[in-house]
Amino acid sequence: MQKAAPYIALAALLAVAFLLKRVGELEDRLQALATGRPAVAMAATASPAPVEVAQNMGRIQAYANKMWSAGQAGNLPLVDFYRHEMKEEMEAVANGGVVDDGVPVSEHMKTYGIRAMEALKADLKANGLTDFNDQYAVLISTCNSCHVTCGHPELRMRVPSMGRYTDQEFAP
Ligand code: HEC
Repeated sequence: MQKAAPYIALAALLAVAFLLKRVGELEDRLQALATGRPAVAMAATASPAPVEVAQNMGRIQAYANKMWSAGQAGNLPLVDFYRHEMKEEMEAVANGGVVDDGVPVSEHMKTYGIRAMEALKADLKANGLTDFNDQYAVLISTCNSCHVTCGHPELRMRVPSMGRYTDQEFAP
């Protein structure tokens, strides 16, 4: 019986390999069937909605403005909240595979935006809000660097002179 053990194991392995191959074949056939169906039905499952960069940017701009107000009010948790929201918007762009007129927008977002948000996260953790104004200015210049790189030098962001949301409490 002990001598038979390796053969049993081998037989089991072969059986698994056969089953895997069979599953693969069935998958191929399913795929072939699916592609025969109208394109509309496929679109619903195939790819997520395309990323509209300008819409993400509008939200990023709003969060950046609120982050500034929170920073001026000395509200670290709220600054961190908006940092997180901005990063999510940037990730949506970074992961969207966006290439616009040959400009690899998603790739630029990884280089400029995501890195800036990671640096800000580390700084907030290490220094709190002690150098918030400097950090914020660096962030805004990163926005502008990316706009230039993406062929949009006309999109010039700047540090706000006042918060534009009077309907939200920013104080801690
Ligand atoms: C990928 C690099 C990149 C980074 C980083 C980036 N942007 Fe943009 N931004 C773009 C591109 C590309 C457009 C143009 C989108 C289009 O063509 O529809 C844009 C457009 C905009 C617009 C115009 C849309 C509107 O609603 O008016 C604003 C505002 C904006 N960005 C703000 C910001 C702010 C604020 C930051 C930094 C916190 C930032 N962006 C960081 C690439 C970037």
